[in-house]
Amino acid sequence: METGVLVAYASKYGATAEIAEKIGEVLRQAGLSADVRPADQIHDVSAYQAVILGSAVYIGRWRKQAGNFLKTHDQALTKMPVWLFSSGPTGEGDPVELLKGWRIPGGLEPVADRIQPRDIAVFHGAVFPEKLNFIQRWMIKNVKSPTGDFRDWDAITAWAEGIAAELA
Ligand SMILES: Cc1cc2nc3c(=O)[nH]c(=O)nc-3n(C[C@H](O)[C@H](O)[C@H](O)COP(=O)(O)O)c2cc1C
Repeated sequence: METGVLVAYASKYGATAEIAEKIGEVLRQAGLSADVRPADQIHDVSAYQAVILGSAVYIGRWRKQAGNFLKTHDQALTKMPVWLFSSGPTGEGDPVELLKGWRIPGGLEPVADRIQPRDIAVFHGAVFPEKLNFIQRWMIKNVKSPTGDFRDWDAITAWAEGIAAELA
């Protein structure tokens, strides 16, 4: 029996987890049932009506739990509506432009091509320097990435409302 929408996420410091929670909240407000869970805790997706998967981006890559999720469940995911999102760039401006058109890591393009997601969104992320270790702080400084919370809750809400409308 279909039990609703799975919102799976791979997050290191919590910013992506909170985006996933927001998406779940919007889906529930629209009358859908939604499970928001870490991607590595999911063993079977076949009971869900649809899947949304999001990952934080680190050095141009998704967290490995998100890539593993796509590869492990690709057979089932090809048969259901799927949406993907990244939580990445900090700073002002269109997140896709900030990432120069990047939407999904190159290594995951073949599996994404098989799954044919309905959409691949890129959202601004959040970097909290106090949570980072010395090397990560140095990396962020080196690439001159702004720190702070740049998550665009209106954009996230609008995206989730669009998904709810498609599934209604
Ligand atoms: C060391 C480091 C490297 C990062 N590399 C990228 C990157 O290559 N591209 C990007 O868009 N964001 C990058 N980010 C930003 C994070 O992906 C973003 O802040 C994200 O929202 C963090 O999510 P999380 O708290 O769920 O782990 C990086 C952040 C850190 C600390």
